[in-house]
Amino acid sequence: MSKRPEWLDNAVFYEIYPQSFKDTDGDGIGNINGITEKLPYIKELGCTAIWINPCFESPFGDAGYDVSDYCKVAPRYGTNDDLVNLFHEAHRLGLHVLLDLVPGHTSWEHPWFKESMKAERNEFTDRYIWTDSIWEEPAGYGSLRGISDRDGSCAVNFFTHQPALNYGFYKPDRPWQQSMDSAGAIATREALKDIMRFWLSRGCDGFRVDMAGSLVKNDENGRGTIALWQNIRAFLEKEFPEAAMVSEWGEPYQSLAGGFHMDFLLHFGTSHYNDLFRCEKPFFEGNGDASEFVAKYTDSYGRSKGKGLICIPSGNHDMDRLARHIHGDNQKLAFAFLLSMPGAPYIYYGDEIGMNYVEGLTSVEGGYGRTGSRSPMQWDDSVNAGFSTAPADQLYIPMDPDPNRPTVQAQLGDKASLLNEIKKLISLRQANKPLQSLGKIEFICNGAAGKPLAYTRSLNGELIFVAINPGGDSAEISINGTFKEVIYRFGTGADLHDKKCIIHAGSAVFVTLS
Ligand code: NOJ
Repeated sequence: MSKRPEWLDNAVFYEIYPQSFKDTDGDGIGNINGITEKLPYIKELGCTAIWINPCFESPFGDAGYDVSDYCKVAPRYGTNDDLVNLFHEAHRLGLHVLLDLVPGHTSWEHPWFKESMKAERNEFTDRYIWTDSIWEEPAGYGSLRGISDRDGSCAVNFFTHQPALNYGFYKPDRPWQQSMDSAGAIATREALKDIMRFWLSRGCDGFRVDMAGSLVKNDENGRGTIALWQNIRAFLEKEFPEAAMVSEWGEPYQSLAGGFHMDFLLHFGTSHYNDLFRCEKPFFEGNGDASEFVAKYTDSYGRSKGKGLICIPSGNHDMDRLARHIHGDNQKLAFAFLLSMPGAPYIYYGDEIGMNYVEGLTSVEGGYGRTGSRSPMQWDDSVNAGFSTAPADQLYIPMDPDPNRPTVQAQLGDKASLLNEIKKLISLRQANKPLQSLGKIEFICNGAAGKPLAYTRSLNGELIFVAINPGGDSAEISINGTFKEVIYRFGTGADLHDKKCIIHAGSAVFVTLS
């Protein structure tokens, strides 16, 4: 594994969707200065780092994941200077900042794409994946056809307006498929390094990388894409050894081999992550089954050589709000889990106060069903919950209309609030190294139907036992060590006996062991 920036070892991230966090200029949409203004809040919560979703120039067909200038902050969010100022302020407070790097595709409005559509050859002809005839489509990918003078179809990477950048094919098998070491593929890779250089040299601490596993096409078990990232890793080691790299990949054994420091557990694919939070019977709602999640997690953990650098988010801008499926105190139990697992936890803005998924919204900027999870942050009881002074009908996304919607202000003043419980859990994590990123995990009870989740976290001889029981019945767990001190207790906690813990219904405990 590549050298890690030390701050990742105890990092707790806060994800910010810039559109919806804080608007300081009254235009109804959040901005960079709004994030800067709220950094003390994030620090006070106990988080140590933020990830900002793409904030670059874009036609916003996919909320900014369709970049048209990687090196320019979108005017609606402010200026490059505002972002550099945010880096400085964050560092002054001891916080780190990840930007969102979108290497797999651009917007179809990116100047590179406009050049690459031209019939005559130019510097950008091979920047994207094109077939050599309009009558042939790139099999396995959607395509853009009939919009260029150039004769060919261009592969898309996600939505139709997001043409796929060309990093080559692992094993080209059509004449138009370029190899990874073709001049065009290498030029794309070098252009990506230039973008990283641009922001890292201005004070950004690293990147969350969008669809990081998707770059080399016709790949074989990620081999080509891993090699590509290893090349980028070598560049980082040389020029920016302190840069942190977190991938949206979902297979840590591949992404860590590619030189990423951490990988996300994803809501799609084989992770079973949403068996816990978002399914018909989520584990944390008290009637579900966590065993397949535990099996897959244990497998990934083993395959990543026990490094456990798997980031588990409370949610993100692509999935339902946690509060849509997990209710009341069960959310506290969910956070007891999230904040006691290896890797760095990610808190999606607003999840710390249990913000609702706003039902029935019309899609905004390619959000579709995701729009309800992207509504404005609820700070207080003032106009638009303190998000913006704009008239309500000019907000980027409407506020949650619920008269009882949670706010930061109300929860700060309520000792029993979700927000205060999360603060408590984060400070406990910060005070106990075994609970942080690198502490080893061993599951004792896998949360199979009707059973609790229980595991130990250990580091340098220190051992902490964690038991979480969202179920309706108390449950007995046998352990090997001897209980020492209860460092966290939620609900009615547990009865601790010699080598046995009876965890009560709707409760959690963290106990040191010898
Ligand atoms: C994953 C991002 O999280 C999502 O919001 C986006 O739509 C796609 N990648 C395409 O970039």
